[in-house]
Amino acid sequence: MASSSNTFENVKAKVLSAHESVTLEEKVDFYNSWAENYDQDVAVLDYRAPSLAANSISSHFSGDRGAAVVLDVACGTGLVARQMKKHGFGHFVGIDGSEAMLTLARESGLYQDLKQSMLGEEPLLDQKGLFDVVVLVGALSDGQVPVKVVRELCEATTPGGHVCMTTRSNLENLEYKAALDRELKQMEDEGLWTCVEVAEVEDWERAVSEQEDGYIPGVVYLYRKLTP
Ligand SMILES: C[S@@+](CC[C@H](N)C(=O)[O-])C[C@H]1O[C@@H](n2cnc3c(N)ncnc32)[C@H](O)[C@@H]1O
Repeated sequence: MASSSNTFENVKAKVLSAHESVTLEEKVDFYNSWAENYDQDVAVLDYRAPSLAANSISSHFSGDRGAAVVLDVACGTGLVARQMKKHGFGHFVGIDGSEAMLTLARESGLYQDLKQSMLGEEPLLDQKGLFDVVVLVGALSDGQVPVKVVRELCEATTPGGHVCMTTRSNLENLEYKAALDRELKQMEDEGLWTCVEVAEVEDWERAVSEQEDGYIPGVVYLYRKLTP
């Protein structure tokens, strides 16, 4: 049973304990153990990535939101779909490695379909070019979703559709972010997609590491897939 609220110190200790997870399987186990308290704990961290991503998609999406099909990759408990629903999107398919997070996403009633998959180890989906929007929030970092998966996000998107991704820009994630930025640019050079928006946000979420204070920065990327 989830407690009604948690202190910042408790949430910080929980998030820092994730550093003990070395393999992806261990990281997913960490999320299995966090699922029940995840929504209330990230609220304590002032985690705004789902709403920032949904705002970015909403301000650039000109199609029929009611008909659009959204693939929510690393969907967790469903915070991104919840935010996108406020902007009029209504069809969601979710993928995540953690069964416990998926159980909560299922209980949210927001998703038409949910699939368990270890991204980077298993193919994202067999079908390509199906989704009007593909979104990946909060899981592009070391030990979670490897950079190479962004190509699969683009492959899953229909030509003209959007891919929205977020990552942190704090010290701990700088190396991963630099590799991600190189891959995004490389894919643009290959004519796979065009950059619509890169929004740098200073107050992304509350810092939890010993080296950082206050808020850490983060970034929302929005790309549009080009017609081959
Ligand atoms: C910080 S949560 C973000 C969840 C949701 N997108 C949100 O913003 O609230 C990260 C999620 O990514 C999932 N995840 C991390 N790495 C993964 C991987 N390689 N394959 C599948 N799921 C992964 C975790 O199970 C977890 O549910």
